[in-house]
Amino acid sequence: MKFFADTAEVKDIKELHDLGLLDGITTNPSLIAKSGRKMAEVIAEICGLTPGPVSAEVTATEYDDMLAEGRYLREIAPNVAVKVPLTEAGLRTCRALTAEGTLVNVTLCFSSAQALLAAKAGATFISPFVGRLDDIAFDGMQLIADILKIYRNYPNLKTEVLVASIRHPIHLVEAAKLGAEVATLPPTVIRQLLKHPLTDSGLAAFLADWRKTGQSIL
Ligand code: E4P
Repeated sequence: MKFFADTAEVKDIKELHDLGLLDGITTNPSLIAKSGRKMAEVIAEICGLTPGPVSAEVTATEYDDMLAEGRYLREIAPNVAVKVPLTEAGLRTCRALTAEGTLVNVTLCFSSAQALLAAKAGATFISPFVGRLDDIAFDGMQLIADILKIYRNYPNLKTEVLVASIRHPIHLVEAAKLGAEVATLPPTVIRQLLKHPLTDSGLAAFLADWRKTGQSIL
C-alpha cells in the first residue's frame, strides 16, 4: 500500500520523508491556503522533496479554464498529478489530460457510480473521502469496498483507489484490509500509526533492566 501525506507543510513532509514512509503527497486548495504560501512555489518545493506523485488541484470550474490550469500545474514538475473535482468539467479535463500523459487524481468522490465514471475517464487515482462520509452518518469504508469490488470486475480499468479524508489509524487499517492501493494521511495520523502504549512501557522496562546489568553494547 502506498502512503501519501495529505499536507502542504514542507516541514512535515521533510520529517516524514526522512522516516522513509512517503510515496507521494496530496494537497487541496484548503491545505494550500493553510500553508500561507503561493501555490506554484510550494508545489515546486514539495515536488523536489519526493519523486512520488504530488497532487495539485485546479480551482477553475469550467472545462476550458480547468484544462488550462491543469496544463499549467503539470509544467511545475514531472511528478505533479493534476487534481480535478468529480464534476462534468472535471471528468472531461481528466480525459484530456490523461490522453496527454498527465497523472490525474479525481477528487471529491462520494459514490461508487462517480468512481466508475472517473475510471472510464482514465483517472490515475480516484479519491473517495471516507471521513466526510462518516461525518454525515454514511459508511465511508463501505464505499471503498464497493469501488474496489467494481474495479476488480473490470481489469481493464487501471485507476488506483486513493483513500482520502482519513481521520484516524482505523481508517487506514480498514482500507489496507480491503486492499486499497493508496491512502493519503494527515501527518498527525501517520505519527499516530507508530504509537502503542505497550511499545512505550515495554521499552521502558527493557531499558530499566538493562541499566541494572551495568553493561553497554559498545
Ligand atoms: C485528499 O486528497 C483530500 O483533499 C483530503 O483527504 C480531504 O480531507 P478532509 O476531509 O480531512 O479535509
